Amino acid sequence: KHITLIGAPVQTGAWRRGCLMGPDALRTAGLEAALAELGNEVVDAGDVAPDAVTVPATANARIRDLDLCAGWVRALQAAGDVAQTTTPIFMGGDHLMAAGTVPAMAKRAEADGRPLFVLWLDAHSDIHDFSTTDSGNLHGTPVAYFTGLSDFTPQFPDLSVKVDTANICMIGLRSVDPAEKAALARTDIQVADMRAIDEHGIAAPLRAFLQKVEAANGHLHVSFDVDFLEPDIAPAVGTTVPGGATFREAHLVMEYLHDSDLVTSLDIAELNPFMDDRGKTARLMVDFVASLFGKAVLDRPTRSRWT
Ligand code: ARG
Ligand code: MN
Ligand code: MN
Ligand code: MN
Repeated sequence: KHITLIGAPVQTGAWRRGCLMGPDALRTAGLEAALAELGNEVVDAGDVAPDAVTVPATANARIRDLDLCAGWVRALQAAGDVAQTTTPIFMGGDHLMAAGTVPAMAKRAEADGRPLFVLWLDAHSDIHDFSTTDSGNLHGTPVAYFTGLSDFTPQFPDLSVKVDTANICMIGLRSVDPAEKAALARTDIQVADMRAIDEHGIAAPLRAFLQKVEAANGHLHVSFDVDFLEPDIAPAVGTTVPGGATFREAHLVMEYLHDSDLVTSLDIAELNPFMDDRGKTARLMVDFVASLFGKAVLDRPTRSRWT
């Protein structure tokens, strides 16, 4: 695969500062070499910088750093304008990054005549909007924006291509605010929360979703929030929630994704190196991404495991 690493050091969407170091922590942990070792051709395109914009205030005075957030959304939408032949890995950065990367990937998929599907690996649903967010942290809002469920204009760009809620699957949820529960109840977004995972395993909902993506000949964007993982193994996040995906569950997800050969782009979100323990989370994420791009225990034919 031709992989382009794109640094998205946005941190204004999160309450806790430090996600701006995320891309450099992933570089330091050897992401490029790990992918190249697997036979991929990797180019590090460096970091994106936010557009300098001033946008009108919203009615909700709690929203933090709106201008910088809006500048990041614009810049990342432009930075995601990459060729169909490359697989971008967006190295975040807090999860507001997805308000830039996902619309860019949706536009790219449409230019290819194919629908975009989104796999959202996260403890949170991030489906607040400008009016429902209590924390005022905009990393809790990208899903409501890129689906068009709520109006984010004129602060964020008006989207020409939105993601169909039927094409989204969220796995790992365990912290959903009341307004988000109401929003999710109104949509057909597929949700496998931790209770469902405990009951049926993590492979069942993933398999069903991958079959849908394949049947629709879709592009697949994976948005991997580090807090999807159990905080014991991945402490470098601002919003830890106990009871997350285990090392083995997360590796299985990555191996399924690799075997499916459906993934066309990836976000690594919410890595906050300031909270890390001797680089352990950054190194773990490099290992997971390597798994997604072909690292396996054994050599075996693709597609042996997920259909
Ligand atoms: N729902 C909470 C909020 O809106 C937490 C959001 C956490 N999001 C994240 N991307 N880590 O503040
Ligand atoms: Mn390089
Ligand atoms: Mn998130
Ligand atoms: Mn999260």
